Parts: sequence; structure tokens; C-alpha cells
Amino acid sequence: MSETCIVDLKARKVFDSRGSETVEVEVYTRKTVGKASAPAGASKGKWEAVSYPEGGVEEAVRRILILVKPRLIGFDSSDQVNVDKALKEIDGTINFSKIGGNTAYAVSLAVADAASKTLGIPMYQHIGGTMVKNLPYPLGNVLGGGKHAGEGCPDIQEYLVLPVGAKKFREAYLGNREVHRALRRILEERNIPFFGGRGDEGAWAPRISNDGAFEATAEAVKRASERLGFEIRFGVDVASSSFWDEEKCKYMYKHGKPLDKGEQIDYVLECIDKYKLLYVEDPFHEEDFEGFRELTEKAGDKCLICGDDLFVTNVERLRKGIDIHAGNAVIIKPNQIGTVTDAYEATKLAQKHGYVTVFSHRSGETTDGHLAHLAVAFNCPIVKIGVLGGERIAKINEFLRIEEHMGDQASMHRVGVK
Ligand code: PGA
Ligand code: ZN
Repeated sequence: MSETCIVDLKARKVFDSRGSETVEVEVYTRKTVGKASAPAGASKGKWEAVSYPEGGVEEAVRRILILVKPRLIGFDSSDQVNVDKALKEIDGTINFSKIGGNTAYAVSLAVADAASKTLGIPMYQHIGGTMVKNLPYPLGNVLGGGKHAGEGCPDIQEYLVLPVGAKKFREAYLGNREVHRALRRILEERNIPFFGGRGDEGAWAPRISNDGAFEATAEAVKRASERLGFEIRFGVDVASSSFWDEEKCKYMYKHGKPLDKGEQIDYVLECIDKYKLLYVEDPFHEEDFEGFRELTEKAGDKCLICGDDLFVTNVERLRKGIDIHAGNAVIIKPNQIGTVTDAYEATKLAQKHGYVTVFSHRSGETTDGHLAHLAVAFNCPIVKIGVLGGERIAKINEFLRIEEHMGDQASMHRVGVK
């Protein structure tokens, strides 16, 4: 029996950054133990894997013990693809509704953790190979609303900064932190009703209109960029499915009049031009491939048009988008699809077709740092990760460790629109 052979598996309920229950899994090899937990979304896509079976995390833990554990004991933990294949067979549904996508992801990731620890190499090399030397730019959420914050906050879920001129990951993070800090001062100078409160991902959550938030973020980016001496750009995650009214066929803005599809395209195009946005995520609801196509045709040469709820890290949905040129970027959230292998396949498919892959956290996170390893292993040029909060900083700090481990050969990915 090889050292990487799985000999035991444990699961338990723990809490995430919102204080909600999530699943944590331990995978034992003959030599050591790997551990991982699952994050959770608040603005989940309709087509994501089901997070947990009926009965929630409690039932997920039970199913790991009675269904997953007996099947995985004896597997080689370094054989990720076959472990993930077995997880899909154990579940037997198309959307992990029997064991849960979060359950599958925690097991899949704990297996990767166990293998890399047993082999004595960092997870980014175990998954990505020894030639992987590039770090992603952090896309940091600095101001938020939607489902991540309270009443009176913007309809647009996230205002995100991308420090494209930074030369190192550390410098890039400092760029995002500087914008976050400058933004607080700007909100106070402008007497925006605001008590320093933050949303689920650490972004400021003031009572401000969508356009007011654009103005304030643009100013904060300008000040931070001047202070640090490198280029910082910004963008948004509209998360528009969360305020799309299917019956009325309108985006129901609280800070403005409802917009139909054509008006929404015009509004987004106007924002891209006015604020020189480099990134727009989910500007249309999760069924509107055609809207994505049209916007990509009109603005894809200057802005990343990214699908999250549209693609849900699913190769079938991604293929549909690729065929009609809907979007030029894609969010990769492994728990949307369930396993490390499936997320990898979606990433590779996107990269093959020239889409910019954006590895992403969820609004509910644990203090696991694994996300950083996967983002590097998958060669993603951008990682969407909050600026503050222990659960976000755990990933940021892991990137710093990876950067240090890569030594002189570490460099940043190139980011831009082709
Ligand atoms: P989440 O969404 O709350 O589902 O994690 C974040 C996002 O829309 O990118
Ligand atoms: Zn999103």
C-alpha cells in the first residue's frame, strides 16, 4: 500500500464567516491528514450544484460517513481525477443533490490536501505542476450592496478594484487595501450615511446610490493610484439575477427606475465608458446569454465581461457561451460544480477559448487558505477575493507564502483585454 492511500475519512459541522454551518472533512493517508471545508454563496446561481441534501449540513456529514467513506478508503489520494469521478458516481445525480456540491467539494479538496501533504509539496504544485510560476491579480471588493449588505445600499452587489500596475502580489494587495481605506475617507467627507459597516466580504456598506458608489470608488481609485504610483482599475459585479423580475421582464432597481433589457445594456455601456471599467460581472440575468453576447460585441475590446451565475463553473453552460461569444471572462467557483476536477475542466475549456478565468471566493468563507493554491494551480490571471476579514486575509496571506516559495521565478500574470 502506498503512502498516499486513503485509510480513513472524518466529517464534522463547523461555522463559516457568516456564522452559518458548513462541512469540514478530514482525509487520512498512511502518513498524515488533509483537511478542507466548503464556502457558501448568498447570491447563488440557479444552475449551481445543490449545496446540501435535504437535512442540511447534518445530513451531509451523515452521508459522507455512510456513502463516501466506505467507497473512498483504499483510493490513492494523489489520483484526484479518479477520486472525483468516484464522488460523482457515489452521488449519481447531475447536480450533486444526493450528497451536496459543498460536501463533494470539501471531500475533493481534503483529498488534494492529504495528497500534497503526504507527498511533501505545496498543493499548488501537486495540482498545477512544478512549472507553475504566475500569481493572479486580486480583484478586491471595496464597496457593496445587493444580497451582501442591507437596505439603502447599492443595488449593484460589488464594486471591485484591480491593481493591474502592481509588480508583486504583495504590492497588488496593498493597492486594494489603499483603495479600501481611501474610500472610507471619501464616504465620510461626503457625509454619506455610514457607520463604517461592512458587508459579507469586508466591503464598505454605505447608504448610497449606484451612481454615487461609482463616483466614490472612482475617486478612491484615483487617490490610491496616485499615492502608490501604479495603475489601478475598477469594475463591478452587478449580480443582476438578484433583482431581475421575470414576470415584468425588468431589472428592478431600488435606486432608480426599472430597466428593460435594452435599457440595461445602455446603462452598463454608459458606466463602462464613463468610469473606464475594466470588469463587469453578471450585468444580465442568468438565462440571458444573448445579452452577454451583445455587450461583449459592443464592449469586449475594452472591458472584461464576466459570467458567474450565467456559467456556474459548468462546462455545458460555458460551451453554450463560447459558441455564441457570450462574455470574455468566467468566474470559477469550485463549489458551484462540486469537485476540483470539474472546476479544472471548466477553467481549461475557458482558457482554451481565450476567456479570462477569474478564480473566486464565496461571500461565506472559512479560514481555509486552499483557494490560493487552486487559483495558482489553475493558472487564473485574476482571483476575486475580499480585502478585509480574517477569512479573506487567510487566502491573501497564503498567496504571499506561495510567492515566497516560488522565489525569483515568481511573476504576476498579465491581465487585460485581448
Ligand atoms: P455569493 O456571490 O454570495 O454567491 O458567493 C458572490 C458573487 O456573486 O460573486
Ligand atoms: Zn458574482
